[in-house]
Amino acid sequence: MKSVILAGGEGTRLRPLTLQLPKPVVPVLDRPFLQYQLDLLASAGVRDVVFSVAYQPDRVRRVFGDGSAIGRNIIYAIEDTPLGTGGAVRNAWPHLDDLTVVFNGDVLTDVDLPKVVADHRASGATATIVLYPVPNPAAYGLVEFDGSSRVTRFLEKPKPEEITTDTINAGIYVLDSRALELIPPGVSHSIERGFFPALLQRGDLVRAHVHRGYWIDIGTPEKYLQVHADLLDGRFPHAIAAPERGPRAFVDAAASVSDGARLEGPCYVGPGCRIEQGAVVGPGAVLTRDVALASGARVESSVLWAGCTLGPEARVRGALLASKVAVGAHAQVGPGACLGEDARIPDHSRLCAGA
Ligand code: GTP
Repeated sequence: MKSVILAGGEGTRLRPLTLQLPKPVVPVLDRPFLQYQLDLLASAGVRDVVFSVAYQPDRVRRVFGDGSAIGRNIIYAIEDTPLGTGGAVRNAWPHLDDLTVVFNGDVLTDVDLPKVVADHRASGATATIVLYPVPNPAAYGLVEFDGSSRVTRFLEKPKPEEITTDTINAGIYVLDSRALELIPPGVSHSIERGFFPALLQRGDLVRAHVHRGYWIDIGTPEKYLQVHADLLDGRFPHAIAAPERGPRAFVDAAASVSDGARLEGPCYVGPGCRIEQGAVVGPGAVLTRDVALASGARVESSVLWAGCTLGPEARVRGALLASKVAVGAHAQVGPGACLGEDARIPDHSRLCAGA
């Protein structure tokens, strides 16, 4: 059994964060995003993984290499032009064996993968699709199934009157690899809209596994912030390695926090950060690494990537800052702001919501 992680999308909805860093390797709290998926796969005994990449593949490779440093065997299947989700899995086929676990590279979940795989094997199905119930399913691909968990129909972004189920495709599949013969090689193809409906048409058994735990896709700025809030609050089970300096105020041992600074948990201060006297790292703040807060600066409900700096009395609230963003003295960065790498915010300026 091996895995394909679909990591070739451009991540347009997360721009400008994804202009210099592909979505699969954006930092999420204390690690690159795909590390969470690699950990989940390892829980099911999967250590051989194909990263299916198309957009900035070298930047993904730079983060994970061949996987040997973390006890994995990682192979890169690179598309010259993106082939879509189905074409990408087909492109990885030469590297696969009998059974394949496919993951969308932007999904964070605590699904019981060993059980999904065991149930799949026991059922004799060609494919198992993990489904997730959502309160407002209209914007997603819906999957209907019957009382014996047999998938009966796929519905893409249905009109309100067509909605008959609340379970959406969660972007996690277990497949009998032989079925990939249905996908034509070298052309763009959608696994959701092409491959799975073709399996149903052929009369194959496609099973549904409904997951009722944690699931989110990190594809928008709002969701990316939400993931951090969930990790800090413990809604997603993840052991944060950094020690706590107060209730859920995690500070890496290689960070320097002045005695006169204030930490208001939940928050995370990563390695190499420097927090000066009078600065406040407020609830929901994540400083991934090497972030410097001058005296009186304050951050809350925000994620700041490596090398960001805040001048004296600067304020950042509800914002996302890519690497090396410099916020000047007394400047304010407001809710919903999303700043690309190297952005400079002059002293005393104010960035309003959504900038
Ligand atoms: P947006 O541009 O913001 O929609 O994001 P995206 O490009 O990641 O697209 P989407 O969220 O629909 O993709 C779901 C998952 O499939 C992501 O993990 C993508 O990286 C991956 N993906 C989408 N298209 C391709 C493709 O053509 N090739 C490969 N290898 N992966 C893809």
